[in-house]
Amino acid sequence: MLTEATRMSGMSAAIFSQVDLLCKQTAANGTDIINLSIGSPDLAPAPHIIEVLKNAVGDPANYGYTFTKGVSDLLIAISEWYDRKFGVVLDPETEIHSLLGSQDGLAHIALCLVNPGDVVLVPDPGYPIFSAGPMAANAELYHMPLTSANHYLPDLDAIPPAILKRAKIMILNYPNNPLAAVAPREFFVKVVEFATRHNILVCHDFAYSELVFDNYRPDSFLSIPGAKEVAVEFHSLSKTYSMAGCRVGFVVGNAKVIALLNRIKSNFDYGIFYPVQRAAIAALTGPDECVTQTAAEYARRRDVIVEGFGKAGWKVPSPLASMYIWASVPTKQASFDFVVDLIRETGVAVIPGVGFGACGEGYVRIALVQPEDRLKIAAERITKWLG
Ligand SMILES: Cc1ncc(COP(=O)(O)O)c(C=O)c1O
Repeated sequence: MLTEATRMSGMSAAIFSQVDLLCKQTAANGTDIINLSIGSPDLAPAPHIIEVLKNAVGDPANYGYTFTKGVSDLLIAISEWYDRKFGVVLDPETEIHSLLGSQDGLAHIALCLVNPGDVVLVPDPGYPIFSAGPMAANAELYHMPLTSANHYLPDLDAIPPAILKRAKIMILNYPNNPLAAVAPREFFVKVVEFATRHNILVCHDFAYSELVFDNYRPDSFLSIPGAKEVAVEFHSLSKTYSMAGCRVGFVVGNAKVIALLNRIKSNFDYGIFYPVQRAAIAALTGPDECVTQTAAEYARRRDVIVEGFGKAGWKVPSPLASMYIWASVPTKQASFDFVVDLIRETGVAVIPGVGFGACGEGYVRIALVQPEDRLKIAAERITKWLG
């Protein structure tokens, strides 16, 4: 009889699959589902990106393994993009590595650094791979609570010294999924000092750096003096350029960590499909309007939800960044029970906050992945239901 590995016990079927199943069951009864659960962009990549991909796919020479950490044109494009966007200078040879989506890097980073008994400091609530990756490396997790009382920033002073002695990695993510929270530069300065003092690698997930509204611009963690000594930063083309299915992202920063990840990945995979690398270069070096338009679209959707749900008496915050709204459950229910009822009664699907960690209880995450007219219908149905 096959038995599952003990590490599997900490990995439940991701909450996204549970909500998806619920949607399918409800749709089977004839309900029209407005799916605001998984954060998969509904927008298309810009035409110039698709054009490059189409041409590259047509060339039979582009079907081999790519092997490397990214073709050199892509690494150079990433370094130029980073300098242009954040004023951070990176060496394309040693400080940049392409990824099969940022998920790939977040899944494997702990394997490079963690031995049994080592601790990884993870945010709670947090995007699920922040815990699943370290768990696969047999790390012990220490959850850093992110609450509205602490402005969704971890309280570094609250981490016990005995944990800090064994801590190898701290995972941070601003703009944040699922909280849609942002971090002030002073917090990053404090983290660099803290990580240096305790010899911890900071893995900053910066996937939402470009989905920003109302003239807000986030700082790269690597723009803090001393950060490259203690940090790497993860990026994704999935949200910025609406290329989620292409599976392309990258990690930049500390050269030693990049080299370790390269060793792991050269054993695990054979690189990104060459046409996708060409499309990524087109995206990163092309005009910025597509990114500004994408951000503006998410901002309009945010406004529709804030206003529409507000009419239903459901006060939800208006975030400065990301493609999510983190909202308190408007009934007295637990978040999962509320979501089950919401889907069954209105056809509107969101993710229960508890799916992102114990501190997410009492909240739901609303993904802005439907056009404005559908969001208006969602708000009308919820107004009727909560009415
Ligand atoms: C915070 C965060 N990090 C990483 C990812 C994974 O993105 P990718 O498509 O680059 O693997 C996501 C996807 O939703 C995310 O929200």
